[in-house]
Amino acid sequence: MQREYDIVIWGATGFTGKLVTEYMQQNYSGGNLTWAVGGRNQAKLDALGLGAGVDILVADARNQAELDALVQKTRVILTTVGPYARYGSELVAACAAHGTHYCDLTGEVHWMREMIEKHQAAASDSGAKIVHTCGFDSIPSDIGVYFMQQQMRSRHGVAASAIKYRTRAFKGGFSGGTVDSMMAMMEAAQADPRIMETVADPYALNFTHRGLDGLDRKDQFYDEDFNAWVAPFVMAAINTRVVRRSNELLGQAYGDEFRYDEGTIVGQGPAAAMGAAAMAFGTTAMNSLAAITPARKMMQRMLPKPGEGPSPETIEQGFFDIELLAKHPTDSALNLRGKVYGDRDPGYGSTAKMLAECAVCLAQDKLPVEGGFWTPASAMGDALLQRLPANAGVTFELLN
Ligand SMILES: NC(=O)c1ccc[n+]([C@@H]2O[C@H](COP(=O)([O-])OP(=O)(O)OC[C@H]3O[C@@H](n4cnc5c(N)ncnc54)[C@H](OP(=O)(O)O)[C@@H]3O)[C@@H](O)[C@H]2O)c1
Repeated sequence: MQREYDIVIWGATGFTGKLVTEYMQQNYSGGNLTWAVGGRNQAKLDALGLGAGVDILVADARNQAELDALVQKTRVILTTVGPYARYGSELVAACAAHGTHYCDLTGEVHWMREMIEKHQAAASDSGAKIVHTCGFDSIPSDIGVYFMQQQMRSRHGVAASAIKYRTRAFKGGFSGGTVDSMMAMMEAAQADPRIMETVADPYALNFTHRGLDGLDRKDQFYDEDFNAWVAPFVMAAINTRVVRRSNELLGQAYGDEFRYDEGTIVGQGPAAAMGAAAMAFGTTAMNSLAAITPARKMMQRMLPKPGEGPSPETIEQGFFDIELLAKHPTDSALNLRGKVYGDRDPGYGSTAKMLAECAVCLAQDKLPVEGGFWTPASAMGDALLQRLPANAGVTFELLN
């Protein structure tokens, strides 16, 4: 593909877009990778002060003709323009039609399914590799599972029959864009109950194979495998769908009966049991409130607005620490434990680095897939296991 740029960072004026741009400036300036920034507002893009070496492209996310022209200038579009169900459909259509690779940060499962249904054939014809969920949702889950399955296969010659993902600790904050995306999804689900059905389906992103996993747990429980009380993990409804889709796209490499779930470790003892119960109740209450229009509007007034997000200190001092347990199909003595660690806050500092590395990977690495809609693991599993620890401060390690 002959194009003017390798990568365009689309949404460079937003909270996450600015962090991605900063990362690209620090790590990919002056080399053989050409990149530009894009957005809808020339004055805001100029105010980023990126200097003459970085081109600026202006277009509106709702204008199909402008986007068709934009995507033909670049090999890869990295987009942080969300909520994606509101602003992202025309861009995906343009990339699929014109053979432009694409990565984003969406967690809007119903929208991903819609995009796959509408544009899989075009992407496959044009050669566009389209990869959603390239941030904290769902790289640690998807690449973490890919890593653990590789380890199980190389050590014991079989696929793990189940993997449990448990967050041990994390520190960070929320941006207005994320709040807006969550609220937009609740609003859409209120208007169309089929969206809620899709979001609740544990195999919402599978098209040919379903497995044994049931609905997400909403309660707290004691997990003997971790000797700890576990509460629901807020991103599980996205990450589990992506991991299950990876299994399908990898030709059921994890097995037809593979099980996967996510949770948050709270601790041991009665205080932890109460903490886990409070977290379970809090998550359900938040979701129920967000489904009611006046409560949702009140929450939006109190939470960060689009363009706002955590402070530089919160990002710098943030981290995430996740433990994965991979179960051997027949012998629990051969179970493996692993750890995924990120050296910045999950939602922004680490997410910006993971997304940028996905874009560079799509631009530069030899990947085992052709055009179509892929998950991070199915398109870039091996490449990201090299890139993320080397460049992005996200590590994957075996604990036993
Ligand atoms: N999965 C994850 O781990 C993760 C982590 C972080 C964020 N996210 C998601 O990433 C998205 C961005 O979050 P954020 O906090 O960075 O949001 P944000 O600060 O509100 O940024 C949104 C960006 O979209 C641009 N935009 C809005 N409407 C547009 C239009 N019509 N045409 C072109 N550009 C337009 C904005 O441009 P202006 O500056 O001109 O308004 C801005 O650059 C959200 O959907 C969020 O949920 C996901």
